[in-house]
Amino acid sequence: MAYAAFRSIGAYTPEKILSNEELSTMVETSDEWITKRTGIKERRIAAENEFTSDLGMKAARKALDRSGIALSDIDMIVCATISPDYFCMPSTATIISTKLGLKNATAFDISAACTGFVYALSIAKAFIESGMKKNVLIIGAEKLSAITDYSDRGTCILFGDGAGSAVISATEDKNEAIIDIHTGADGEYADLLMTPNGGSGSAHDSLGAEAGSCFMQMKGNETFKVAVRTLTKDVKEILADNNLTGEDIVHFVPHQANLRIIKAVGDALKMKEEQVVLTVAKYGNTSGASIPMAINDVYEAGDLKAGELMLLDAFGGGLTWGSALVPFSPKVS
Ligand code: COA
Repeated sequence: MAYAAFRSIGAYTPEKILSNEELSTMVETSDEWITKRTGIKERRIAAENEFTSDLGMKAARKALDRSGIALSDIDMIVCATISPDYFCMPSTATIISTKLGLKNATAFDISAACTGFVYALSIAKAFIESGMKKNVLIIGAEKLSAITDYSDRGTCILFGDGAGSAVISATEDKNEAIIDIHTGADGEYADLLMTPNGGSGSAHDSLGAEAGSCFMQMKGNETFKVAVRTLTKDVKEILADNNLTGEDIVHFVPHQANLRIIKAVGDALKMKEEQVVLTVAKYGNTSGASIPMAINDVYEAGDLKAGELMLLDAFGGGLTWGSALVPFSPKVS
């Protein structure tokens, strides 16, 4: 049987930094308020002519370079995004595919908000284990600045742009394999976090034509509570199902939405400080890109070693959630 191994990680962060101080000149807020309530100090903002596909392509190139797998051997690209280059089509994955110079690979986007990368990972795992694909490039890429209302202080302080990518490939060696992935969704909570206008379900008759029609809206306080509850439950279940405990985890990589959410979840799970990966202060919430960007930070700091077990834990609009037990398994040549 083929197993799916997590071979490499890459990320790209746009150059422009938007600090809390700068945001304070745009809406009624302060560095002190944002830092205390969210832990965020700054976030990255893509250039006007830099699209989600550009961010995703740059992250994917890094992941590919580090994977030991040739571009021509990639047989599928999955891009998780809620800020695609184009509304409906073509998919951002197909644009990335062309920008990379890849021909004929299967390519499609998925929409699972901040859980997107974990969903993409589960799709890659399933395709590889079924024997349908051998080398899958997964990408979480977001230009959230394009769907953020910079006059709404309840949301604009939280989100940023960026991309992360990983190469997942077939292996015969069970020790290298992704151990387990749980995913779920509950549409009953859809109104907590959504882009209510611009789609076929909206009251607008001009699909996405109006400025601001795709802006995110959020009930922050309720989202906060559901996030802590869901993230904690998710981790407890996946650990128990695999006869593991928090002590078996080297890197706990939660979705980087808010430092207070991460701390509450980490405490409930009795995670030690050194296990918990934190990037929220410098990138804010980058939705589907947040987890791979965080893994990339650990990798580039030289702290991600072959065989080390990562626990990914995500939560996002939909509502969606997901967790994954993933050993880092670089290809040894
Ligand atoms: N600056 C200053 N004051 C702000 C503010 C800002 N950026 N945003 C909201 N406020 C004000 C509110 O207007 C409110 O004022 P009031 O008491 O006079 O009515 C007060 O702060 C408290 O608002 P509340 O929404 O209860 O704050 P909070 O402690 O819940 O923090 C969030 C707000 C958005 C930071 C927090 O709810 C959050 O992070 N939620 C989760 C969001 C998330 O992670 N979403 C993505 C999930 S993937």
